[in-house]
Amino acid sequence: MTEVVIASDEAEGSRLAALIVAAQIRTKPNCVLGVATGSSPLALYEELAAQKRTFDASGIRAFALDEYVGIAPTHPQAYRAVLLRTFMRPLGLNESALSVPAVEPFTLERTGVDYEQRITDAGGIDLQILGIGTDGHIGFNEPGSSLASLTRVKTLTSQTRADNARFFDPPDSVPVHCVTQGIGTILRAKHLLLLAFGETKARALAAAVEGPVTASVPASAIQLHPHVTVVVDEAAAREL
Ligand code: GLP
Repeated sequence: MTEVVIASDEAEGSRLAALIVAAQIRTKPNCVLGVATGSSPLALYEELAAQKRTFDASGIRAFALDEYVGIAPTHPQAYRAVLLRTFMRPLGLNESALSVPAVEPFTLERTGVDYEQRITDAGGIDLQILGIGTDGHIGFNEPGSSLASLTRVKTLTSQTRADNARFFDPPDSVPVHCVTQGIGTILRAKHLLLLAFGETKARALAAAVEGPVTASVPASAIQLHPHVTVVVDEAAAREL
């Protein structure tokens, strides 16, 4: 079932989303969280850190949704670095509690299988936080990705590279490749929490929530999942 929560703005939506994540941690202190990057979950992560005295986060483990290939793990825009900075450290969590797909050249052939195994060994992801791309991608599963796909190496589309150029200097240094959890991987998480804020997301969000389930809109696969919470602001909900 998909529940859509329409908040007045991003700040309110992020507060609501933080309540959901905090409740998950209180219910299962050793839970496994799937953590997205991008701008959508940033206010949620800040809100969660602000509330950290109301729950014990010390037992959680986190799995990144995706990672760029071709930049060092210490690059400020590498998703490992971003997640340490925006999610792990503010919650007082150690780097060892964060798993990110391996992206060194010699690991790429096995990285998908290895990452799937690590998720399985951790007991599966309890709550997966997701953003949505303007082209309807989730993780880095671009339009055309198989709805059954698992973690693997992908090439970014020019649209996604353009969307993410704002994080890079110079803007055209956005990596070309990535490793992403597949749509099938995402669907195995027990609960999906998808965030979308701003009018640039309105069209993709409406297609994901109300359109046909299709590989042309990877986020539409959430309709196949039994437990989805979509938190949006009024601008992103405009085409619902
Ligand atoms: C990025 C990430 C996704 C993210 C999406 C939306 O490319 N790989 O995980 O959800 O695109 O990004 P943003 O939240 O910045 O709009």
